[in-house]
Amino acid sequence: MTVDLEPCRASFDSGGSEESLLRRSIDELDFVDSVPRPKGARSQARVTVVAVFACALVVGAIVLVRTRWQSARKFGPCGQILVRRFESYTGLGSEYGVFLRAAALSAEMGWTVVPVTTDWIYGDLDNFFVPPSYRCTLPPDLLDDLSTYKEFGTEGWEQADRLRLTRNFHQLLHLDGLIRNRSIDPEGIRRLDMKQRLWSLDEEHLTLPYGESVPRGVDKAFLEQVDALKRLWVPNFGMQAQIDRLAARVGLNEARSTRRPVVAVQVRLGDKKTELDDLHRVGSHMQLYASTHMPQAFATLTDARSDDMNVYFQAIQVAIGRLYEPELTPGAFPRPSTGNQKPLVVVMTAEPGVTEQLSALDKRNEFDFILTPSSELTPEQQEEYDRVFNSTRAMYRRWDQKDLDNASLNLRLALTRQLIAELTVYSRMADAFVVSGNSNLGRLALTLAGEEGALGLPGQRIFGGRVRSIDVPFYPTTWRTSIFA
Ligand SMILES: *[C@@H]1O[C@H](CO)[C@@H](O)[C@H](O)[C@H]1NC(C)=O
Ligand SMILES: *[C@@H]1O[C@H](CO)[C@@H](O)[C@H](O)[C@H]1NC(C)=O
Ligand SMILES: *[C@@H]1O[C@H](CO)[C@@H](O)[C@H](O)[C@H]1NC(C)=O
Repeated sequence: MTVDLEPCRASFDSGGSEESLLRRSIDELDFVDSVPRPKGARSQARVTVVAVFACALVVGAIVLVRTRWQSARKFGPCGQILVRRFESYTGLGSEYGVFLRAAALSAEMGWTVVPVTTDWIYGDLDNFFVPPSYRCTLPPDLLDDLSTYKEFGTEGWEQADRLRLTRNFHQLLHLDGLIRNRSIDPEGIRRLDMKQRLWSLDEEHLTLPYGESVPRGVDKAFLEQVDALKRLWVPNFGMQAQIDRLAARVGLNEARSTRRPVVAVQVRLGDKKTELDDLHRVGSHMQLYASTHMPQAFATLTDARSDDMNVYFQAIQVAIGRLYEPELTPGAFPRPSTGNQKPLVVVMTAEPGVTEQLSALDKRNEFDFILTPSSELTPEQQEEYDRVFNSTRAMYRRWDQKDLDNASLNLRLALTRQLIAELTVYSRMADAFVVSGNSNLGRLALTLAGEEGALGLPGQRIFGGRVRSIDVPFYPTTWRTSIFA
């Protein structure tokens, strides 16, 4: 069956629910740095309270200023600075990925990587995350004229003080080369290549086996990106509150012993020819219907599409089945019985009709499905969403990259927050998350899941972790082929 998201939103909008209380208190906190001025203190007690409060504020401000000043004095000037200005015409996963790859190399290369996101279509990163701290003092004129900076990867870049990293093909290829030379194990990659050749010969081979989501040859690069993400993906106060609300809405805030299994699935059927090619090169025989023509109605689904949906449905069954096995899942869930709540499947996709099709495949009515529990749009944002994205049914139509061009900053920020909340909750908290390693967001999810989440419990790597790629193995580079020499 399909869970409608309306009840979620209704309880959010109607005053008095826990969620709206939470939201209100966050809004208030946004304004604490303007000191409330007492309107004619009526009693001595009140004057005293205000005086103490003001005093505390002054002391606090002094401490803050001193700390800032001291830290500026303690850290010397930065060495080689690499500026990454985020560009707006590609997806969040893709853009963030370029930054993350550079950040992961920064320690070894001696770089200070500075993201510039002030006019990024998804909104300035400072809206969502605690701003990065640098262990050096950035020059005050840093962003005055980026056009004078040496382009990363061009002749003599190693000697330049200031570099800029763009999406230029040669620059990204050079970054991939650095990653390959420093963090890829050629022997591990050779074994991966052999496995993929064998899988290609087997018509029945559809999905990447559990335990292969992160191939051994990329371990070092993967863990470097995991570490960088731990430093950078630190939700700020408001973002964390939204993450907590999403976790609560899918039940992940409850103790494991009292709740049902929660499994998220990212359905990404691919919208690029190159992705289909990559999928077949890693030995999968999935079809990726979206690279063929988009069907008009479910009744005219291509065989390829219904096959792919079956593959996803089976992947959900396997992901949930593992949760009942104590050898695979410490603190395994009790097997389903009548009276138990059904496992919840949270669908994350930008493709239309996916939730309905998965639900239709659930002939034995084993699971509950939900599409957008992250939705927290205000009525005004919802109105704009429906109008600009021409959306009539939330279950059917989700936004994608090109929709953003026509949305207001306010709506874009709201949608970015929802996406960040989804990625964070499903990668770090869900009992399982099935992703597409073919997609930038899927690889980001594996990185967010971290060592144990993506590789599995210590000593059990062969069984894989909570988060698995259904198709392409994780690669730490811009292009999948870059990991091969
Ligand atoms: C990687 O190593 C190869 C072989 O030593 C070298 O030719 C190439 O320039 C290196 N690439 C980068 C980006 O450093
Ligand atoms: C909006 O959706 C309706 C119904 O799906 C469709 O008939 C109409 O052409 C769409 N409008 C635009 C501008 O895409
Ligand atoms: C955005 O708006 C412009 C002009 O209003 C329109 O031509 C374009 O098709 C819209 N883009 C999308 C993705 O809806």
